[in-house]
Amino acid sequence: MPALPLPDPPLTDGVVLLRPRRAGDIPQRFRAFADPLCLRFSWPLTEPLTERHVRERFVQEEPARLRGEEVCLAVVDARETGRIWGGASVYDTVRSEGRLGVGYWLAPEARGRGNATRTLRLLAGWAFDCLAVQRLELTCAPDNTASQQVARRCGFLREGVLRSHIPFRDGRRDTVLFGLLPGELV
Ligand SMILES: CC(C)(COP(=O)(O)OP(=O)(O)OC[C@H]1O[C@@H](n2cnc3c(N)ncnc32)[C@H](O)[C@@H]1OP(=O)(O)O)[C@@H](O)C(=O)NCCC(=O)NCCS
Repeated sequence: MPALPLPDPPLTDGVVLLRPRRAGDIPQRFRAFADPLCLRFSWPLTEPLTERHVRERFVQEEPARLRGEEVCLAVVDARETGRIWGGASVYDTVRSEGRLGVGYWLAPEARGRGNATRTLRLLAGWAFDCLAVQRLELTCAPDNTASQQVARRCGFLREGVLRSHIPFRDGRRDTVLFGLLPGELV
């Protein structure tokens, strides 16, 4: 697939700003992600998360973008752009068929005031406007109610449960699937 572009200029609504990730973000990104809720829902390995994992992931991200597989962005405080609030990404589900996945997480300090909802709105709007996407998919654990609320607030519809969908820790996990079509973003 052709490379996926980076949003240029960065995406912002004046409260959150989504910009490309930088090597200098890694220590802050590690500290923010090493939080019980992020680990519970977004860390699939049995081994403990370390800063090395975050560094290795960072090195893989730009090549993956150039292969057209994903775009990973830092979610930062738009008023204090050095402060990492979280991460957001779009990734190839079947891009050749006009489908992309979206994902996000926030540090504890950034939760509870709509920043994930703002992040998802910006990301979904950009995907429809600039990436010629015909369907966005959002997947999460059945007990991840906070993430499901974020999806619903942006207009995603819950479409069903994918049984035994992904390897997670020492077993497999069901996934709730949400979908959003052009014109449905709120
Ligand atoms: C999923 C996750 C990002 C959601 O974060 P969040 O803070 O609950 O979501 P939002 O930023 O949209 O904030 C929603 C809360 O802010 C409140 N809020 C205040 N102003 C708001 C506004 N303008 N718009 C939306 N919500 C607003 C809502 O009422 C809600 O409060 P509640 O949690 O008491 O019900 C967070 O739980 C997380 O990082 N989890 C770990 C990683 C993860 O699960 N990622 C997703 C994998 S699928």
